[in-house]
Amino acid sequence: MMFLVTAILAYLLGSIPFGIVMARLFDLGDLRQIGSGNIGATNVLRTGNKLAAFLTLLGDSGKGAAAVLLARALVGEQAAGIAGLCAMLGHLYPVFLRFKGGKGVATFLGTLLALSFPVGLAACATWLLVAFITRYSSLSALIAALMAPIYTAALYHLHGAMVVSVLTALIFIKHRENIVRLKNRTESKIGQKG
Ligand code: G3P
Repeated sequence: MMFLVTAILAYLLGSIPFGIVMARLFDLGDLRQIGSGNIGATNVLRTGNKLAAFLTLLGDSGKGAAAVLLARALVGEQAAGIAGLCAMLGHLYPVFLRFKGGKGVATFLGTLLALSFPVGLAACATWLLVAFITRYSSLSALIAALMAPIYTAALYHLHGAMVVSVLTALIFIKHRENIVRLKNRTESKIGQKG
């Protein structure tokens, strides 16, 4: 029973769209009409408000981590993994936004950090490194997501890597438009408007 409760709580936590909350708090306008139209920190940054973008990153990653930590404390490790997945699904398909959510990168990284701090840290470092070199947020996310199962397999076992691969697949599905833009060289760089 508690397993189900933590899964539902994780989904509801994941459904909180911190980008939309920050856009309202800081009066940034309708995120859906700005830049990529996404509700994540990268698009909040396109409004020029760095604090709002930072708080979005913190909120969206924190909710993934909180869902995992809560489920682990109340139930156990297996529930923590399911909670991470549910938090991701909440962010991607939030009940509060008629199931039209974000791309899940911050939530993915927060979830990973809570599931396994070394894997999460390696994924964050990968994101930062690719972002530093290319300045593309989406490409950084895609490569970090691709590497996460590899880090998991290297540090733990294949079973864990397969679980993380589900999250990686979700990230790729949500970045379809970014992948097309990257191919066409029309993707905007971090902080670049439009
Ligand atoms: O965090 C989402 C990022 O990978 C892409 O965002 O707004 O450039 O589509 P965006």
